[in-house]
Amino acid sequence: MSYAEGILNGKSAIVTGGATGIGSYIVRKLGTLGAKVGIVSRKEENLIEAARKFKQDDGLDVVWRTGDVRDPDGIKNSFDELAGDLGGIDILVCNAAGNFICPTEELSWNGWRTVIEIDLNGTFNCCQAALLHLKAATDGGRIISISTTQADYGWPGAAHAGAAKSGIQNLMKTLSVEWGKFGIRANWVSPGPIEGTEGVDRLIIQQGLADQVKERIPLGTFGEGDDIANAVVYLSSATGRYVSGTGLAVDGGSQWDRGR
Ligand code: HXC
Repeated sequence: MSYAEGILNGKSAIVTGGATGIGSYIVRKLGTLGAKVGIVSRKEENLIEAARKFKQDDGLDVVWRTGDVRDPDGIKNSFDELAGDLGGIDILVCNAAGNFICPTEELSWNGWRTVIEIDLNGTFNCCQAALLHLKAATDGGRIISISTTQADYGWPGAAHAGAAKSGIQNLMKTLSVEWGKFGIRANWVSPGPIEGTEGVDRLIIQQGLADQVKERIPLGTFGEGDDIANAVVYLSSATGRYVSGTGLAVDGGSQWDRGR
């Protein structure tokens, strides 16, 4: 199931963390629907391999720069260079994230700081780095941040990521108000567990929690990468033009089921 062909023709997008996991599904979807796409991540080998696969599997010419979202100046340079390659930035997908499970009483200050810096500060850095380009977007710039449904609840073992992802949601609300005057829409997508991602493998399957988590999903299965990519397309394209400052949970109906 997909959107009309060419719905994103003429648009340019940057996806942070776009070489792997959910980010790679978003890149593939935006690209096959007509957007020119650039990706940024820390590891050059991942970027080279991802660009090769996007070309081989989907015929997409995805451009890339290395960059760490924790480094504001480095990210600004990478985004400016990519904007040159792509002819601007209409769509920014803040997807890069880091996470690990650790009980809070054992979590070091550096462990806390590292995840907050990647997830929350990294999203702030990327929004600022893209701002001038998003302001120039013809049909209004779009920011879509990838959060998680876990951010709406306590998240035992992931205090750092829960706090950061909650913070991202409030940042999107604030930017939707402050940057609405520039025509910029700022929203987030909250994935539930998405199969085949490093996060779900490490945080759910390797912890032996797969069956337990699936039982709690009203639709009974993990989601797919394309479920998240399709939500991002809705918020990136003309279909989402009047949507700003809000979140879209893509989680098989789990959101209102925590009381069971
Ligand atoms: C306890 C840990 C730890 C662990 C790292 N640390 N892993 N503490 N348990 N498993 C601590 C380290 O000891 C160190 O603190 C501090 O965190 C920084 O660790 P580094 O390895 O130096 O950091 P860095 O190399 O920058 O790596 C960042 C990272 C790493 C977040 C720790 O895991 C990473 O790069 N991840 C990127 C990919 C990723 O996480 N993807 C999943 C996203 S999924 P000390 O005190 O020792 O110096 C997601 C949503 C999932 O976000 C939703 C599922 C439902």
